[in-house]
Amino acid sequence: MARSWPVSVRWTLLLLVVILGWLVIPGVAVKRESFKYCSQSGFCKRNRAYADEVSAKGSSWSSPYELEPSTIQFKDSQLHGIIVKTTSENEKVRLPLTVSFLESGAARVVIDEEKRLKGEIDIRHNSQIRKERYNEAEKWAVVGGLDLSKSATLNANTEEGLTKVLYGPGSSFQAIIRHAPFDVEFQRDGETHVQFNKQGYLNMEHWRPKLEPEEDSPEDQSTWWEETFDGNTDSKPRGPESLGLDISFPGYSHVFGIPEHADSLSLRETRGGSGNHEDPYRLYNSDIFEYELNSPMTLYGAIPLMQAHRKDSTVGVFWLNAAETWIDIVKSSSSANPLSLGVGSKTTTHSHWISEAGQLDVFVFLGPSPRDISKIYGELTGYTQLPQQFAIAYHQCRWNYVTDEDVKEVDAQFDKYQIPYDVIWLDVDYTDDRKYFTWDPMTFPNPISMEEQLDDSERKLVVLIDPHIKNEDGYFVSEKMKKQGFAVKNKDGNIYDGHCWPGASNWIDCFNPEAAKWWSTLYRYDKFKGSSPNVFIWNDMNEPSVFDGPEVTMPKDNIHWGNWEHRDIHNVNGVTLLNSTFKALTSRKKGENRRPFILTRSYYAGAQRVAAMWTGDNQATWDHLAITLPMVLNNGISGFPFAGADVGGFFHNPGPELLTRWYQTGIWYPFFRAHAHIETRRREPYLISRPHRDYISQALRLRYQLLPAWYTAFHEASVNGTPIVRPQFYVHPTDEQGFALDDQLYFGSTGLLTKPVVSEGANSADIYISDDEKYYDYFDYTVYQGAKKRHIIPAPIEKVPLLMQGGHVLPRKDRPRRSSGLMKWDPYTLVITLDKNGEADGTLYVDDGESYEYQRGAYIHRSFHFQDSVLSSHDIGTKGSKTAEYLKTMSHVKVEKVIVVDPPKEWQDKVSVTIIEDGVTTGTTASMQYVSQPAGKASYAVVKKPDVAIGKTWRIEF
Ligand code: NOJ
Repeated sequence: MARSWPVSVRWTLLLLVVILGWLVIPGVAVKRESFKYCSQSGFCKRNRAYADEVSAKGSSWSSPYELEPSTIQFKDSQLHGIIVKTTSENEKVRLPLTVSFLESGAARVVIDEEKRLKGEIDIRHNSQIRKERYNEAEKWAVVGGLDLSKSATLNANTEEGLTKVLYGPGSSFQAIIRHAPFDVEFQRDGETHVQFNKQGYLNMEHWRPKLEPEEDSPEDQSTWWEETFDGNTDSKPRGPESLGLDISFPGYSHVFGIPEHADSLSLRETRGGSGNHEDPYRLYNSDIFEYELNSPMTLYGAIPLMQAHRKDSTVGVFWLNAAETWIDIVKSSSSANPLSLGVGSKTTTHSHWISEAGQLDVFVFLGPSPRDISKIYGELTGYTQLPQQFAIAYHQCRWNYVTDEDVKEVDAQFDKYQIPYDVIWLDVDYTDDRKYFTWDPMTFPNPISMEEQLDDSERKLVVLIDPHIKNEDGYFVSEKMKKQGFAVKNKDGNIYDGHCWPGASNWIDCFNPEAAKWWSTLYRYDKFKGSSPNVFIWNDMNEPSVFDGPEVTMPKDNIHWGNWEHRDIHNVNGVTLLNSTFKALTSRKKGENRRPFILTRSYYAGAQRVAAMWTGDNQATWDHLAITLPMVLNNGISGFPFAGADVGGFFHNPGPELLTRWYQTGIWYPFFRAHAHIETRRREPYLISRPHRDYISQALRLRYQLLPAWYTAFHEASVNGTPIVRPQFYVHPTDEQGFALDDQLYFGSTGLLTKPVVSEGANSADIYISDDEKYYDYFDYTVYQGAKKRHIIPAPIEKVPLLMQGGHVLPRKDRPRRSSGLMKWDPYTLVITLDKNGEADGTLYVDDGESYEYQRGAYIHRSFHFQDSVLSSHDIGTKGSKTAEYLKTMSHVKVEKVIVVDPPKEWQDKVSVTIIEDGVTTGTTASMQYVSQPAGKASYAVVKKPDVAIGKTWRIEF
């Protein structure tokens, strides 16, 4: 019988547990009061209230925005017109509209404000800032895909009050623009997928002079002209200027994207209710100390791309605005699609986008597949850079390795324990008094010798350079920056002073082309003395983080080059620094031909072209480990796949089980780095006692074994935007049961499916399988088959739950080495799993892993195909001036082993295979061994030393 405690004792025990909890995990809570809720942000509150008012009025409400028919012109695939907003005082505000139909199949809707474009407004407080609505986000985010369609036409078959434009592939898309009230429907094949202003929340807060409000004024102007939060007052020289728009996805029950939030992949509703958020998702890049989980609270980066998904269809919108943005999400049952089998009855998603400033600028993508969204969004904002090989291997970081000797020792210990790693990192304290581009002379007297030791095993060093510059006389960076006027200014036009790591600081303003150019020169080897070619860069704190600023960032009324307010550009600020650093790393010496590596904390659409990102200051808890999966997956589908999280957790000390599971999870982050706060205990893998050290080493070896497949997946992402790790909905877009899954992932196009263990004490994983292919355990070939159900995979602490889908050829390198650089000439292993038809496909991309020579053809790109007992390798690359030379250098790199999992039974008696290289039957054979396994496990065949060159065309006949 269970013993029951008296009530008073139970309360005392409970209290003790709570107190103990506080003692064990000090200060785990975010300082929520330092960051705004929507209700504390004037423009968010006003737009939400507007939406509430519109909803309450229902059909009696009519949106005051009308497209004036006489102004409509359609020319060269662009529709121009004037939307007139009639205010309650019957004032007419003219809002120029441009709808562009692009060759890519995207449509773009831009709404501006005529008075502000013409400069016919007054700015308060004698401020120098610009009069236009901010219209330069495109300059930072967009690099292509803007060519106008050659075939968009007006649909002659229309009705009064509507303008219809046919566009897209085979004119299968149509935009239906209603004049009064103004709204837009986007159709694909005659069905509406995206709607603008259907709910009537369009709200462009127009410029108006500040007048003393009349006593009985219906409008609450308390946040129009000034706004105070947490002791900081925003002077708002242009007054209220926000914009809001509802965007609905009829028939869609899932929306994804809009990173960065520590939340599930499938976004939640935000207007309250069970399991929902109370606040909108917020995008306002911020340095949030000990961030909370399952929250719509803003984090360090912002990508305003949302995709809606339903069975067989994915569509998306990209809200090109760099100002603070909030997004409400509400789902409703859809009468348009009563038979849809969505989650519950909620089959339509309504989003409400609210930004503080700038023009309204939205791209619409009509899919129909998730891959189409990746491709078209990547065409606009750029694909992720193809990184150097080392950058996708394992990175070892902590705050801080304290001396150059310390770094050398850590490096030596990895070797002693035979644990591979590629990069060691130096956090802020390697510098002389936190002055960037310097070294602490006491602790890092000889950085070059440290870098040389690393270089001996092809390892690299990454050092931190932040955008806050210590304000100190005699510090060359500070003096030059101030003298040249390269720092961000305050609202009065003087250099802005704030506090960050170095104490009193100023901030480089990379919006200024001259400042950006100068900033890039600082990284040159002759300027940044002590740095050598194996040194790369970490740009941290670039939201920017300002310790004494409002919401730990800059005041919104600060002024950047070009006289834009910080308010206008906040979310894109970090990217300007990255662009400059990227440039710097391509010009540290004359003729530099190696690809840069930069890690950034802050990001916006487009940052993927130049940097990798990580999810910032997480904690060593199981919950934090678990949330890394949806966060990394979300970045992948949002065009920024080079993503990771601090392995081990930044704050606090993980126990051995958590650390082991974190490594087993971290090997699936495209950016794979361990990092830890200065107050944590050392936890380099070799310091962990056995057996956990062995488990961590095995996980690391698995990452290294799969590096050829990782590099191939990065290459794929760099040419078509596909995520490097992919959520279930992306790979199986028709399986509704998989849409919300965000705790398992597919790795590139390899068919590898893993569900990392993220809970304490677990010794199995229940992997959900969508299709009816056979899946094989990666390590022992146990077979799992059965569509649309969960399969229990044993996952004791030493095991990574990992399955191989039938139908793939997986390239690996099996020889253990100290770093990826030392694997360059190693032979390959190909693992083949056959699909239901006995076939398999795979690809491999290889280049020098370092330079841009691949752009001149110095690469190998092969497709492997298995059919009718023949494995063949085909060239899918195009030739360039460097192809022949590169192939020559690679001619001795061979395939050393082929493993066929679940081969035909008839192979049992086979002992050899025939090899045909370059179309020539040489009569060469290689030995083959067939290994039978007990029931439940697939048999396999191993071909030893077929020795076909990885860069050649060949066949292996079984
Ligand atoms: C904040 C970063 O998020 C963290 O990773 C780093 O260790 C500290 N800055 C110190 O530079």
